[in-house]
Amino acid sequence: MKMAITPARRLVGEIHVPGDKSISHRAVMLGSIAQGDTYITNFLMSDDCMSTIRAFRHMGVPIQITDPDTVIVKGRGLRGLTPPKIAIDAGNSGTTARLLAGLLSGQSFSSTITGDESLRRRPMDRVITPLRKMGAHISGVQDKYLPLSIKGGALKGIDYFMPVASAQVKSCLMLATLYADSPSRIYEPAPSRNHTELMLQAFGGRLDINGNEITVYPVSQLYGQHVDVPGDISSAAFFITAGLLVPNSSIILKGVGLNPTRTGILEVYKQMCGSLAIENVSTSGGEKRGDIIVNASHLKGTVIGGQLIPRLIDEIPVIALAATQAEGTTIIKDAQELKVKESNRIATVVDILSRLGASIEATDDGMVIYGPTPLKGNWVDSFGDHRLAMMAAIAGLIASGETVINGWECVNISFPGFYDMLKRLQN
Ligand code: S3P
Repeated sequence: MKMAITPARRLVGEIHVPGDKSISHRAVMLGSIAQGDTYITNFLMSDDCMSTIRAFRHMGVPIQITDPDTVIVKGRGLRGLTPPKIAIDAGNSGTTARLLAGLLSGQSFSSTITGDESLRRRPMDRVITPLRKMGAHISGVQDKYLPLSIKGGALKGIDYFMPVASAQVKSCLMLATLYADSPSRIYEPAPSRNHTELMLQAFGGRLDINGNEITVYPVSQLYGQHVDVPGDISSAAFFITAGLLVPNSSIILKGVGLNPTRTGILEVYKQMCGSLAIENVSTSGGEKRGDIIVNASHLKGTVIGGQLIPRLIDEIPVIALAATQAEGTTIIKDAQELKVKESNRIATVVDILSRLGASIEATDDGMVIYGPTPLKGNWVDSFGDHRLAMMAAIAGLIASGETVINGWECVNISFPGFYDMLKRLQN
């Protein structure tokens, strides 16, 4: 499906972006293996999160969707899952595949995890290697790719230094350790999102956290909770960027998740002289949230790298777009992980923004952007990557003429309703 975007005069209004994707996945997973019901409000009803719901339904967990965004998970207890009769299809969702690999390694049955064409190209050796150290019987295509075959069984805790900062790997190992006979100690090279840590504690799990070192303990049971999911800052990122770039704009984003492991984008935009303010801050289930007020701004180039990268990894495409409008050079470095996302986001971001007239170069670990350059409408491909489709749409608001995005439907992976929200801000 194609989407055509034309320039916006200004964006004004108040919006609620949908619930956080990472937290929505985790609430279904922990709810399924907890005892009692888990109520999830403001759940992200998107293709990726539906892959997680379907996976647990295949393992005998009754999951009801009531309101448009309320989910009730009838937890089966830590050892209550039943063997899935078919391969679990994680669709496009890396979080579903990698976290499930850990959880399924500890079950008393065998299972298979597969995914769509994009997910079948993404590295799974990052979970296979440490899970094998825990004693898991897990294999993949070339020991690296989906489908994964898992013969669940006894696991032992490990001491593991993760070679890359990845919340998916960390969470995979934490879930596996719940079923192990001893604790695991996991070290991260840099802090990645800590939603599993926070939610596991709320569900009755036991953890010790010491800087970048987490000790996770096996449990005998977890207990169902109410999880009210904050708005997804990775979805908010598109509107924050649009508000900064479209002249005379003023947008209020209500109830956005502000977990410090996710707010790198706000720090970067402030450093780039973006007008951003935070109001009405509160915390629930350990997760901070608040309203973000954005006003159109003249941005300046900056350098983004090091420990900041995991705190804004999913926002890099749209930050690169912002950099095309900033005065001076922006350097994004230490971001090799971009190559193994839903697309190779170094290559695909450079492709799309170049086609729209930006001055941008790929590097081995990121990109360099020379701004400001006026953008010109053109056709671009989403590469089946939701965050690129939405980045291109925001670019279309400030490009002259028409920007046509091929493969628009992938937006539903994380943000159904994105286009309607964008239209509403233009009225
Ligand atoms: C996620 C972790 C990140 C992120 C992804 C969601 C998660 O991936 O890019 O969109 O929910 O844990 P990595 O763990 O591969 O860095």
